Amino acid sequence: MKIYSKTLAAAVMAAAVSFSGAAWAQQGSPENAEVQAKAKEDGVTFTDARYRNKDGQPTPVVTKDYKVDWAVWQGFRRYHDACHVCHGPNALGSTFAPALADSLKTMDYETFFGIVVGGKRENRGGTEFVMPAFGEDKNIMCYLDDIYTYIKARSLNAEGKGGLPPGRPNGREDISDEAKKRAAECEG
Ligand code: HEC
Repeated sequence: MKIYSKTLAAAVMAAAVSFSGAAWAQQGSPENAEVQAKAKEDGVTFTDARYRNKDGQPTPVVTKDYKVDWAVWQGFRRYHDACHVCHGPNALGSTFAPALADSLKTMDYETFFGIVVGGKRENRGGTEFVMPAFGEDKNIMCYLDDIYTYIKARSLNAEGKGGLPPGRPNGREDISDEAKKRAAECEG
């Protein structure tokens, strides 16, 4: 059974209702305030469990001194668990899998999502390059928006647009109640 699909992702995005950030904005560490101020400056809203751009797509928040929103932090960890082995540390690529920090300079969210769900296989000069399909893997799918957000932050750095440099972020926002609930529901 394929429960995760591009269509589902689009429907979820379309149905995303603005989640009140008010209660959430008051809690937690000093980093929360820094990250939330940067989100405001960037004009992104905390909607449906994460920061999103005006098109409703997941988007990273990275402060001047490289503190990040929860999703980027979670994505950083998940990327290094699940993607790093082929795509290299810091999304910089390897001899057989592309640098995703470069891919996301031009690849849109839907394309990225579709490739991770369905996989990709190319024969180049007799060599098979295989990107596995992760559509049935909850450990990936429940956190794919987070992984996307992390790689997007890396790609913005590659473009000189204030994204995340290689390595660990300098700090992070706390997880929101909404994100915690979503993860629990998704993992089941
Ligand atoms: C077993 C190795 C392997 C793992 C693990 C892996 N990938 Fe891939 N991935 C590949 C290969 C190889 C390609 C290139 C296929 C080709 O040559 O077109 C690829 C391509 C991609 C592409 C398309 C990039 C482009 O520019 O065309 C995306 C997006 C992607 N992978 C995302 C991910 C994410 C996210 C993860 C972790 C959840 C991941 N991959 C884990 C091997 C892997």
